[in-house]
Amino acid sequence: MPEPNDTEGTVALAFSGGLDTTVCVPLLKEEYGYDDVIGVTVDVGQPEEEFEEAEETAEALGLDNYVVDAKDEFADLCLDAVKANATYQGYPLGTALARPVIAEAILEVAEEQGCTALAHGCTGKGNDQLRFETVWRDSELNVHAPVRELGLTREWEQEYADEKDLPVEGGDGGRWSIDTNLWSRSVEGSELEDPAHVPGEEIYDWTETPGGKDAELVEIEFEQGEAVAVDGEEMDAVSLIGHLNDLAGAHGVGRTDTMEDRMLGLKVRENYEHPAATVLLAAHEALEGLVLTKEERSFKQGIDQEWAEKGYQGLVNAPLFRALEGFIDETQTRVTGTVTVKLQGGQARPVGRESPYACYAEGHASFNTEDVTDDIEQGDATGVAKYHGFQERLANKVSEAADAETANKAVSDDD
Ligand code: ARG
Repeated sequence: MPEPNDTEGTVALAFSGGLDTTVCVPLLKEEYGYDDVIGVTVDVGQPEEEFEEAEETAEALGLDNYVVDAKDEFADLCLDAVKANATYQGYPLGTALARPVIAEAILEVAEEQGCTALAHGCTGKGNDQLRFETVWRDSELNVHAPVRELGLTREWEQEYADEKDLPVEGGDGGRWSIDTNLWSRSVEGSELEDPAHVPGEEIYDWTETPGGKDAELVEIEFEQGEAVAVDGEEMDAVSLIGHLNDLAGAHGVGRTDTMEDRMLGLKVRENYEHPAATVLLAAHEALEGLVLTKEERSFKQGIDQEWAEKGYQGLVNAPLFRALEGFIDETQTRVTGTVTVKLQGGQARPVGRESPYACYAEGHASFNTEDVTDDIEQGDATGVAKYHGFQERLANKVSEAADAETANKAVSDDD
């Protein structure tokens, strides 16, 4: 527990209007001794109902709640993630990328309002506490995590809320822990905590049950790795992502059910929906396949993996992250062109790609031309074919002979 004289002034709380952050409001005054609490809700593309819930709850609590629109900034980061083909253990990063954007926005409000501290409602088991605090602990303000520091459980919170007559909605809405932003929707908790439990369709909100809809083609245009238009229509990042979520979600594209290893080492069962992300990642990789050289493609995999790892950890301000982005941006100068993606039965499959930077000439690889180029003919490959695997064949032959020698020796030693 902090010393009382450390907790003067006003604390800015990351506020959603859910159970965790609602109970934090009285606790920050009563248990921590702050004079006042303000709430900050950051818009990274949550559904309208979440803002209504935050507003209603804040009003009932008498909490001043600030709403900050960070959608553009967040959407830009999502499109950067596409340049990096970023996935963590197979799913597109969503919550992870939103947290630093949210944390920065809250810190800004706190500083403008002269707050002395910052607080969030994350538990001590998840990743989000780490992603918030790595940003906040770079400031002079105190940082608090009441749920973690007071060891709260949802059951305790519910009882406390009843006792204090706090405005919290019980019922089905609170059955799962759901985190939604422009890029993805995550659902965890309750019956989903059993990895063997097969989730019902009711956990999904962005994706239709895959199947039952005719295939649809969508054309994505990229400029230097950045998605700029869909089906010939230029769009800003927020609209483009929203549009693709609707389009691909209708085909059931972008569902993930996975076991995830959190930063602290805990393994958890997670379900995600991310239609736009799935389409954009598939399209972008297909375009890279057309324009990048083999060596760029394979080296970039390691860079992409590292970007995603830092992204997962919320370390988007790390010097390494900037360096990785430098490499990625350099490779993206040629990732300009158009990819056609087929949406059908829960799949988003690239089926066509073109680019002025295509590292490809039909005549070179074609079955219908005799030579490769004017001065390389098919016959030139004979020498390469003779050499190919030379060392491997030799190694196998030598070890066979050596094994036989050892076996012979063992037999004669026995005699
Ligand atoms: N496991 C994911 C991550 O760490 C999603 C977390 C979602 N958070 C939530 N409160 N439901 O990025």
